[in-house]
Amino acid sequence: MKRNSDELLTFILDSIAKIASLHEQERLLPELSHMCRDIVFAERCSIWIVNEKTNTLWTKVADGVKPIEMKANKGIVGSAISDNQSLIINDVQNDKRFNDNIDKKTGYLTKTMMVIPMKNKKNEVIGAIQVINKKEEALFTQSDLRYLTLAASYAAESIGTILLMEEINKTQKELIYRMGVTGEERSQETGYHVKRVAEYSYLLAKLYGLSEKDSQILRDVSPMHDIGKIGIADAILNKPARLDSDEMDIMKTHVQIGYDILASSDLPLLKAASIVAGEHHERYDGTGYPKQLKAEEIHIYGRITALSDVFDALGSERVYKKAWEDERIFAYFEEESGKHFDPKLISLFMQNKEQFFVIRDEFKDV
Ligand SMILES: [Fe+2]
Ligand SMILES: [Fe+2]
Repeated sequence: MKRNSDELLTFILDSIAKIASLHEQERLLPELSHMCRDIVFAERCSIWIVNEKTNTLWTKVADGVKPIEMKANKGIVGSAISDNQSLIINDVQNDKRFNDNIDKKTGYLTKTMMVIPMKNKKNEVIGAIQVINKKEEALFTQSDLRYLTLAASYAAESIGTILLMEEINKTQKELIYRMGVTGEERSQETGYHVKRVAEYSYLLAKLYGLSEKDSQILRDVSPMHDIGKIGIADAILNKPARLDSDEMDIMKTHVQIGYDILASSDLPLLKAASIVAGEHHERYDGTGYPKQLKAEEIHIYGRITALSDVFDALGSERVYKKAWEDERIFAYFEEESGKHFDPKLISLFMQNKEQFFVIRDEFKDV
């Protein structure tokens, strides 16, 4: 149970190569945990992450044990984290910090343990690596501690990056959704309009055969379709009657305004949002606006959002009209297939109406 330095280097490089390509927590944590377990020949490894908001530690990858959460200052791991100190304990059962509840539940006997705190670049402890039971009843040594410390610093780096990326993604999505709501609120389409458009668009994207990732992107950005309405005067936006043709021309500029706000951004989500904002009033037969794009020239995000938005708008009451009955909407869709809307999307919609109704019921305006 020892590696020579060549074997050790090969092991580390192999692990790092595997881990470097992982960008999601769910896949990264198990890989890191296997690396840490195997580098010191332990039976088990758990990676504990600090949740500062709830003052708890959680782990998703305790091998053979379900995800666990515990108070941040409890137990051996808690004390290693709060003292920012690595620990080797070769007689766990007699350590008074040890909490044997988990052993009792699982029937597993913890004998030896090492815990290494993980620190981020600011030297703040973000969690800890815990390995349990050195194989073949051996004891953990100072050189095990050095190897695991090396692995822990690499793990901390990878986890820190992913947590940061997840935070940024979450913030980006939240901002985009809020901006979408702002656009709709100005035009008094309050309630769950943007939420429903997002969910209808996701469903259509999946039915159309887009990948899960592309479908999710569309779900995130379709609420932004009318963001350009923030640049339209209230008198036009909320006129309780049909617009005259001059007013209509002004109203139509919301598409270009929305596109301009978003397209200059380098953020991938905002780029995708700019497509939706810029193309949701194009029509399949080339008679839409602003560019009179035709058929497949209109990005699939634009074609899908157009249908989701109109389906929701027709079925809802607006300042200038009452809600349409379902049958009237379906007749209109059949009629506009190949004119306003992509015929493939219309037939997918008609074949799967029930699924759209489920979304409509789930996000009903009250
Ligand atoms: Fe619009
Ligand atoms: Fe809308």
